[in-house]
Amino acid sequence: MDTILLKSIRAVDAENDFISDIYIEDGKIKHVADSIKMDADIVIDGQGLAVMPSFFDMHVHFRDPGFTHKEDIHTGCGAALAGGVTGVVCMPNTKPVADNPDVIKYIIDKADGSGVDVYPAGCITNGMSGEGLCDYLALKSAGVKAISDDGRPVESSEQMLRALEQSNKNGLLVISHCEDLSIINGGIINKGEISEKLGVKGMDRVSEDMITAREIILAESVDARIHIAHVSTKGSTEIIRQAKKAGVKVTCETCPHYFLLTDEMLLARDADFRMNPPLRTADDVEAIIEGIIDGTIDCIVTDHAPHTAEEKSDFEKAPNGVVGLETSFAAALTGLYHTGKISLNKIIELMSANPRKLLGLEPVSIKPNETADLVIADLNKEWTVEPEMLHSKSKNTVFKGMTLKGKPIVTLSKGEIKYKEM
Ligand code: DOR
Ligand code: ZN
Repeated sequence: MDTILLKSIRAVDAENDFISDIYIEDGKIKHVADSIKMDADIVIDGQGLAVMPSFFDMHVHFRDPGFTHKEDIHTGCGAALAGGVTGVVCMPNTKPVADNPDVIKYIIDKADGSGVDVYPAGCITNGMSGEGLCDYLALKSAGVKAISDDGRPVESSEQMLRALEQSNKNGLLVISHCEDLSIINGGIINKGEISEKLGVKGMDRVSEDMITAREIILAESVDARIHIAHVSTKGSTEIIRQAKKAGVKVTCETCPHYFLLTDEMLLARDADFRMNPPLRTADDVEAIIEGIIDGTIDCIVTDHAPHTAEEKSDFEKAPNGVVGLETSFAAALTGLYHTGKISLNKIIELMSANPRKLLGLEPVSIKPNETADLVIADLNKEWTVEPEMLHSKSKNTVFKGMTLKGKPIVTLSKGEIKYKEM
């Protein structure tokens, strides 16, 4: 394995921010010092660049098995690496769904050697049907760290309560897709001024807020952990904030599109801007940013959800979802860091340290003996998102045509360069 020397680079992790030389050998950070005078196979001049612990995206859809025309594990991992991501949790709404050890093993084996640590989420319920809990011990033994029926809520409160009890016993994190389907009732974008203007059925924010509150109450009753997926509303952010204050073991995540964009993007009737939960209003965007700043929101994830151009060609019938792995860091920098809202340490906490902690994995720091899972980025590089340049098989990005500031340029996985911008 090549030795790598990073010269005069800004080294940033969740706690520190300093200029240093860094020497990498045998998959590990070996030395962190002012001026390292050692030969290395690869020397990178770090002037103007930052090196950080690589990102961990705990909410992606890799579509494999079953929907590999949208994405497969190899292209998904390629997209991850291009975004500085070396670890993911991939959601189980594949075909077949990941409700048994065979599917989990298939995913882990196929990802082997990619440079991305892929942790498949197991289903909460058999066949993601909402009824009948999966064998959590068997899933855990196969490598599962978290369970979810993402894409759908667990409609029965009783089933969710049992799932929380059982998963808690097994040390698995329950990731909940919070949506009340009786309220949604066929809605396709946020319910409000824009849905009225477009004459389409809206998705009432109350749907998300209600099930967020339900999950918190259920989790509290059995002293279990609960992680709320893709928070998009002011209401659920506030509910989570209060629950945390009261000592409930609740954590949550949001996605870049929820703190950068509003439902006004839907006025163009382009299904690439449709996802579930949907883009909300300026009020919600502000609340999400507030939640990130004050620690209510623990993680930034992408909900990377590839769909083909053909599927996305019909505004009203298209499936929900947007790709995001290759734009998440740039979007977070653009919306949160370059605007002075949060520090780079905080971005790393949200995108790297906290997801790893929630899953029981060791966070990476920039110090000797740490695994060299690292991303080198140009924080000030301005680039325009062109869908065609994405590594993902699908090009359904909400950031198309937007100029973002900051870009990962080298991604190291266990000391090996797995992505390098040309
Ligand atoms: O927008 C979404 N797409 N939300 C989900 O919950 C599921 C996901 C998908 O699988 O496409
Ligand atoms: Zn999802």
